[in-house]
Amino acid sequence: HEPQLSESLSSSLSVDTQNLQKQIDELSTFSDTSAPSVTRILYSEKDVMSRRYIKNIMEASGLSVREDAVGNIFGQWSGYEPELSPVSTGSHTDAIPYSGKYDGVVGVLGAIEAINVLKRSGFKPKRSLEVIMFASEEPTRFGISCLGSRLLAGSEELVQQLKKTVDSENVAFFDAAKSAGYKNAEDLSSVFLKNGSYSGFVELHIEQGPILEEEGISIGVVTAIAAPASIKVEFEGNGGHAGAVLMPQRNDAGLAAAELALAVEKHVLESGSVDTVGTVGILELHPGAINSIPSKSHLEIDTRDIDEERRNSVVDKIYQSALSISKRRGVKLSQFNIVNKDPPALSDELIIKAAESASRELNLTYKKMISRAYHDSLFMARITPMGMIFIPCYKGYSHKPEEYSSITDIANGVKVLALTLAKLSIS
Ligand code: GLV
Ligand code: MN
Ligand code: MN
Ligand code: MN
Repeated sequence: HEPQLSESLSSSLSVDTQNLQKQIDELSTFSDTSAPSVTRILYSEKDVMSRRYIKNIMEASGLSVREDAVGNIFGQWSGYEPELSPVSTGSHTDAIPYSGKYDGVVGVLGAIEAINVLKRSGFKPKRSLEVIMFASEEPTRFGISCLGSRLLAGSEELVQQLKKTVDSENVAFFDAAKSAGYKNAEDLSSVFLKNGSYSGFVELHIEQGPILEEEGISIGVVTAIAAPASIKVEFEGNGGHAGAVLMPQRNDAGLAAAELALAVEKHVLESGSVDTVGTVGILELHPGAINSIPSKSHLEIDTRDIDEERRNSVVDKIYQSALSISKRRGVKLSQFNIVNKDPPALSDELIIKAAESASRELNLTYKKMISRAYHDSLFMARITPMGMIFIPCYKGYSHKPEEYSSITDIANGVKVLALTLAKLSIS
């Protein structure tokens, strides 16, 4: 027999849209690039400012705030049976270079507002409700995506990796963390959460794709998250003078990189499914002078699929191409480093059902969909039942300054999140 929420709860949920929009706008000013773009990189001054901003808002909402050794931030509203495992929600506020102000942010500020909405309605949670702001969902600074949630999920591999991780300026991960105030960052295992620490996790996020807007649907209920992999590659050649070294004598590391980038596209297109995608988003040449043959090249490759095996077979083919290009061009393949090769995650059936009935009770249209972007939810799914709620965004734009969701769509998402959390908190 399922515990019931009061019939009137769904009609008494009201979002303070003005205040929420104000917070989204204010947070977007903590940026290293100028508006409308947002750039907020892990442990930078602007990231530290955004952390302080979020903690203040959590405290103003009456949440008890704690932070772990790497800066995942938790704000808890105690339930009336506080010994039960809490229900958690949250997202990230870091932003890749020249991106927008909604990716992640909607799921953090929106989650705190969902708690406010429930408080104003008079609802009292049985299980505690907890909002999490994850550290570094984006891989920008250290090349590692979902750094905070990966650690929460207990990744020993990441612990080893972080001991030798530096950013592009050669700043060590631990030094960067310390400079942002995380003095105990080396104590990485203290970040791990035990399986069962939460009874569930739900993330609110903009869709980052065009489907909801195109179909005029208010809510996406995510059933699965696609499987991302990322690879760092380096080629080395002899370099030399752009005029004096004749073509037959060259081993151009830049051309090897260019050829590999095209090979990535080819292998992805030949996978047999439109669900396979691949991107070379970073391509750097050394020394980077018009009259010098590139002696070194560096590529970072992102490839994803909803089918893990198919994604893995693309990764293998990329490796084979890297080997054959290096052989044929006489350049050295000095690095082929698979940074991560993550499996996909499935949403929990009960959380899907809760989000669906929350949408129905709020008279909002919804559809089930998969997430092609990855999220902290991918890793939370390793330690707790997981679900995600999507809202429409303008033309599906994301990871660029034009990213936009209307406050009406955001408020719908916040209400569905609030009602879903309420349902999970009494079960
Ligand atoms: C995360 O931002 C992703 O690239 O999906
Ligand atoms: Mn993102
Ligand atoms: Mn995001
Ligand atoms: Mn993301």
